[in-house]
Amino acid sequence: MKKRTTRRSPAAGARPRRPARARRRGPTRSMLEAMSALAREARERAQAPYSRFRVGAALKTRTGEIVTGCNIENASYGLTMCAERVAVFKAVSEGLSDFDAIAVVADSKRLTPPCGPCRQILWEYCGDVLVHMRDLRGRSRSLRLSELLPMPFDSGHL
Ligand code: THU
Repeated sequence: MKKRTTRRSPAAGARPRRPARARRRGPTRSMLEAMSALAREARERAQAPYSRFRVGAALKTRTGEIVTGCNIENASYGLTMCAERVAVFKAVSEGLSDFDAIAVVADSKRLTPPCGPCRQILWEYCGDVLVHMRDLRGRSRSLRLSELLPMPFDSGHL
């Protein structure tokens, strides 16, 4: 009979796993400020002649690279691309991964969260990132994506 192997503890000399809380620690306040400033700049480049609703986004990797996006509308309306997805697709196409936060800046009475399709794309490519929503007056709120998309459909269901 085959001998049953017991689960081994990590090999001697292996790096100890960091506690979950440390791994989850998100961007600092000053990093969120910097991301919001970049998202605000990107918003200036929005192509929104139809809705006149301009949005900017700044997506950050854990190692500190920041990629921005703005919404880009189209005369056929349905081809419009949101700022968040522009940022994700730019970043992924540049070979970046391991994201930890996205800042979204818009000018609305209530803070602008990512729309449904953007939440789905963010979940798939960025995981449970921190979503930092901000307006032009500096009001802000941060939520994890899992709070905005509590029961996601993903590759685990296929
Ligand atoms: N929009 C974004 O870019 N991001 C959001 O989070 C919400 C909506 C854009 C899409 C469209 O160009 C305009 O805002 C109005 O919906």
